[in-house]
Amino acid sequence: MKIVMLGAPGAGKGTQAEKLASKYGLPHVSTGDIFRKNIKEGTELGKEAKGYMDAGALVPDELTVRLLLDRVSNDDCDLGYILDGFPRTIPQAEALDRELAKLEEKIDFAINVEVPDDNIIERMSGRRACLKCGATYHLQYIPPKKEGICDECGSELVIRDDDKPETVKNRLATYHEQTQPLVDYYKKQGVYHEVDGTKDVDSVFDSIRDILE
Ligand code: AP5
Repeated sequence: MKIVMLGAPGAGKGTQAEKLASKYGLPHVSTGDIFRKNIKEGTELGKEAKGYMDAGALVPDELTVRLLLDRVSNDDCDLGYILDGFPRTIPQAEALDRELAKLEEKIDFAINVEVPDDNIIERMSGRRACLKCGATYHLQYIPPKKEGICDECGSELVIRDDDKPETVKNRLATYHEQTQPLVDYYKKQGVYHEVDGTKDVDSVFDSIRDILE
């Protein structure tokens, strides 16, 4: 099963992708997490991506597509995967479809987690992230068991560099301009579904599970 998670920054794609990955035993592939890991490790890829991310812009398609196709060619993706944050532009979606077509495969579900922009700004201000394992928390809605420490791997939780209010506004603008056209793209393929992302985490998860099953 190949699933694409769509939605604005902070809509809860990552939170749901993590839960889906654990329920269905599929890898959670987040391009954002891959970029952040590279930034933390100081790699060339990380250095290149950082400027774009800090500005709330997208990393260029050519680089992102190469990275993603390489990741999903790993053995752990043989039975499918959950893509979180990819594709983000029509050229990215087309590049993925071209690769899948070579294997006579396609995306099975594109799930859009819908949250209005106003809720997003509030969610981002309370987000805390683990840069080691990618787990995400919220000070109010999904707090870690021990303040400032990741439940999953025990690492320190941080505020993401791109969660500053000004950057969040840019990320939202980028989303509406470049990523929202994917809604029509996947509607045309007949794989598009929408869930109300303003509900609590478990209710959103139940809605997605109903679609998949
Ligand atoms: P990326 O890491 O993909 O960020 P994003 O899409 O902006 O998404 P977020 O991770 O911010 O949010 P999310 O929807 O996963 O929400 P979350 O579950 O954390 O990308 C970052 C940057 O990398 C981009 O700006 C770009 O520069 C670059 N990039 C990445 N992929 C790229 C690509 N394909 N092409 C080009 N550039 C790319 O939830 C948010 C908060 O809300 C959390 O605190 C969470 O705990 C809380 N929360 C979640 N669900 C709920 C709920 N139901 N109720 C209450 N709180 C909730």
